[in-house]
Amino acid sequence: MAVPRSEYLSSAWADGIFANRVLFITGGAGSIGSAQTRALVHLGADACIIGRSVEKTEAAAKEVAKVRSGARVLGIGGVDVRNFDNLKAAADRCAKELGGIDFVVAGAAGNFIAPISALSPNAFKTVMDIDTIGTFNTIKATIPYLIESAAKNPNPNPSGTTGGRLLSTSATFHYTGMPLQSHVSAAKAAIDSLMGSVALEYGPYGITANCVAPGAIEGTEGMERLASSVIDENAKTRAVPSGRWGTVRDIADATVFAFSDAGNYVNGTTLVVDGAGWRRQGGL
Ligand code: HXC
Repeated sequence: MAVPRSEYLSSAWADGIFANRVLFITGGAGSIGSAQTRALVHLGADACIIGRSVEKTEAAAKEVAKVRSGARVLGIGGVDVRNFDNLKAAADRCAKELGGIDFVVAGAAGNFIAPISALSPNAFKTVMDIDTIGTFNTIKATIPYLIESAAKNPNPNPSGTTGGRLLSTSATFHYTGMPLQSHVSAAKAAIDSLMGSVALEYGPYGITANCVAPGAIEGTEGMERLASSVIDENAKTRAVPSGRWGTVRDIADATVFAFSDAGNYVNGTTLVVDGAGWRRQGGL
């Protein structure tokens, strides 16, 4: 049975707004990535999910396709974002089989909780490689397709159809610094900077390049595997001004906004979706 819409998409969006659009997403088999993909596919897009595990990626593609009859969702596993050639081959295959690439989500990330004393240089480098280099590789592999898409879909477009949209997953750790997350904090700061440069270089082509920075999102691998050891049950009301942890739907809705006709002039910025949590960060 398909996951109910209320779990990945608010009622704000009209069905069909992303008809004939194609999403290319790394990290699309994870909890946040599948919600982002479900939301876009629900609203009419086809999608290509990229992942390291063949089994997990293909299973996610099958699951996500259930949200809309006729949806084409391709799962390409065995692709590590640290390997540009594999990513490029996946982007070329996505464009060939689905007819182009209109939206890109660079969502693949690696993480573990560790103090600097327990981080080897290679551990630090591994997260920089997955998050920062992986985001760069994703952009480089897909930008020719986004340029084509933006050329066909001027920004703004009188028809309301959008294309040439890029969204990278950031975080809020680097706004304050974050103990046990020095590697992730540094990698995400670099992603924010990279996306600013992408917006400057490719804005003139009609492309928008933004980040979404999720706060603590319940039910995700990040929260369950990583944070449960350092955050107690009362932390959400104490630490998040909005009084709750985020949901994957909160991030999916922000993604829909960034890719929609409503997001035409939002470029080179970060959508922080965290219930104002970063303002109290460190006070966990
Ligand atoms: C210290 C560690 C470590 C740990 C690995 N390393 N785990 N160091 N503490 N817990 C070190 C290893 O010893 C090694 O260094 C280096 O990191 C590379 O490890 P590998 O296992 O060889 O790397 P790899 O197989 O590429 O795996 C990458 C990974 C892994 C990041 C370590 O966890 C992964 O692939 N994760 C992907 C999924 C994931 O983490 N998703 C969560 C994203 S959530 P040496 O020196 O020994 O060679 C997110 C938001 C989190 O990002 C929000 C939290 C609040």
